[in-house]
Amino acid sequence: MTTDTALPGTASDAAVRVTALCKTFRVADGFFGRKKDFAAVRDVGLSVPKGATLGIIGESGSGKTTVARMLAGLLRPTSGDILITGAPVFDAKGRTTAAGRTAAQMVFQDPYSALNPRMNVRSILAEPLTVAPRASRQEIARRVAELTDQVGMAASALEKYPHEFSGGQRQRLVIARALARKPQVLICDEPVSALDVSIQSQILNLLKDLQEEMGLTYVFIGHGLESVHFMSDRISVMYKGAVVEQGTADDILHRPGHEYTRRLIESSRAQPFKTR
Ligand SMILES: Nc1ncnc2c1ncn2[C@@H]1O[C@H](COP(=O)(O)OP(=O)(O)O)[C@@H](O)[C@H]1O
Ligand SMILES: [Mg+2]
Repeated sequence: MTTDTALPGTASDAAVRVTALCKTFRVADGFFGRKKDFAAVRDVGLSVPKGATLGIIGESGSGKTTVARMLAGLLRPTSGDILITGAPVFDAKGRTTAAGRTAAQMVFQDPYSALNPRMNVRSILAEPLTVAPRASRQEIARRVAELTDQVGMAASALEKYPHEFSGGQRQRLVIARALARKPQVLICDEPVSALDVSIQSQILNLLKDLQEEMGLTYVFIGHGLESVHFMSDRISVMYKGAVVEQGTADDILHRPGHEYTRRLIESSRAQPFKTR
């Protein structure tokens, strides 16, 4: 088994490069408050060329979200390296670097809990732009309008609050917010799994259009295998914190090598999926 995705391109032109990534949590172990180490992510290696999409699949609890949060600089790895467009996300002391806070942004699974209910769309989109280096008021207004337009939201949406929107509209807003600071990479953690099936393809197509327009690189996590296949150039399969198989999206879906991948595909056959 190799843990490094053999993608075309060299290490230096990879938008995402992950080596020997590990995350261990201290968790309760039975009675009397004893603790033990639990390895949620074990020796994961990934590489994604600029403009490409790497899909990650694996059953619930296999470590996908933990990898995602580390890539986005939200969770400190126990060990290993993460480079986004060549720059480390964490410094030697495990602190997020300036590049690490901007270069990769996360699109969360649940658009309902990802948004502050007390902020209107204008403030939700302006907030990431007020972080240093702070944009001018004019620039913020221009950028907020541009973002809503890019994700297909009407200008009239700006004064509205998250509860006034459908799930699909909310996820558009979550995507717009993720784009606010012009990241090179989006980490999409099951971005459509909370949405109605009829809305899912709209959001996936929006993500594809944005990728093409902006040359974005995606790490796309999903449990519906068809949607991951639709989005991804290559797919990594995670099982118990490790990558057990990776290959082109077609090979993984149609010619899976690992028994675990075969079972995963079987179990997701039940979920219908349509695009465009
Ligand atoms: N903060 C945490 N503390 C302890 N265990 C955690 C924490 N976050 C995740 N885990 C555990 O790590 C494993 C992987 O979780 P996760 O990355 O969320 O998996 P997935 O996204 O593939 O469902 C699970 O067993 C989960 O319970
Ligand atoms: Mg998850």
